[in-house]
Amino acid sequence: MSRSAKTLPSILDAVGDTPLVELSRFTAGTQGRLLAKLEYLNPGLSKKDRIGLQMIEEAEASGQLKPGQPVVELTSGNTGTGLAIVCAIKGYPFVAVMSRGNSMERARMMSAFGAEVVLVDQLPGSKPGQVSGGDLDLVERAAQRITRERGAFRADQFRLPGNSRAHYLHTAPEIIRQTGGKFDAFCDFIGSAGSFAGCARAFKEHDPGIKCFVVEPSTAAVLAGRPATDPNHRIQGGGYSMASLPLFSPLDADGYIQVSEDQAIRACRRLAREEGIFAGFSSGANVAAGISLLRGPISGGTVVVLLSDSGLKYLSTDLWENAPH
Ligand SMILES: Cc1ncc(COP(=O)(O)O)c(C=O)c1O
Repeated sequence: MSRSAKTLPSILDAVGDTPLVELSRFTAGTQGRLLAKLEYLNPGLSKKDRIGLQMIEEAEASGQLKPGQPVVELTSGNTGTGLAIVCAIKGYPFVAVMSRGNSMERARMMSAFGAEVVLVDQLPGSKPGQVSGGDLDLVERAAQRITRERGAFRADQFRLPGNSRAHYLHTAPEIIRQTGGKFDAFCDFIGSAGSFAGCARAFKEHDPGIKCFVVEPSTAAVLAGRPATDPNHRIQGGGYSMASLPLFSPLDADGYIQVSEDQAIRACRRLAREEGIFAGFSSGANVAAGISLLRGPISGGTVVVLLSDSGLKYLSTDLWENAPH
């Protein structure tokens, strides 16, 4: 029975089961199909609701998280929002530690769900809207200190297997069901690598012929082995130029695609205008990368991408500023 045909016990039961939509206007004139999974339709307006729920339920099951114990996490806003929702429903105090460089809609949204939001200053010279790996190091140190001080459970999205498991157990099987298991490639803009790792593992178990591509900012393509020429890009949510990503295995990657800020922004604006889809920077990056695949190695095939969060999270940024009518 579909989810909308019954009453749900709580909003947590509304996480996942997102639609998969063909971007046929976007791909007009290109050989092949581009399918977009609308993760911005999750309750917290991003795919990270899935991992918030998975990490908390795994910690409850293992006894690492006790009733009423505080939960802390470093977030660019989306994981924090997912965790804030889960903690609100389950009764855990939640502290979100975020760089001041991320858009303020996210901090307001987490506060609305009852989270305590701690904002950490960026490195001297960093710009708002451009959070680098160095900025994230500062956020990580603050998150570790607060976790110690509060005796909290750290819902560490960069290390806990629950992150990639949420996508392995749910996102990927939904895509396999929605496509009848028939597609050729998947590409994903990487932050923690949770969604790439979980989906790639499930897709390759289903059909080893499905190709999985890493998407990175063109100025910070370190997983592709290139030097970061400008780690302070505007594609929020990933591309952190981190030396090590515990959840990422290069063995899962069939290739690497670089996307510029302009390509990502143009794709977001076209998604809104031509497809009626209002998504954020990293979704634009995924769609732009998907189009490059259809114009290159996956010509004539079917590519699946995630639209990771909502364009509403960027109203205060220049993503929609002077967007042509
Ligand atoms: C908007 C957005 N896109 C992409 C990502 C990257 O996803 P992952 O951490 O699964 O690699 C994130 C992660 O925070 C995000 O918030």
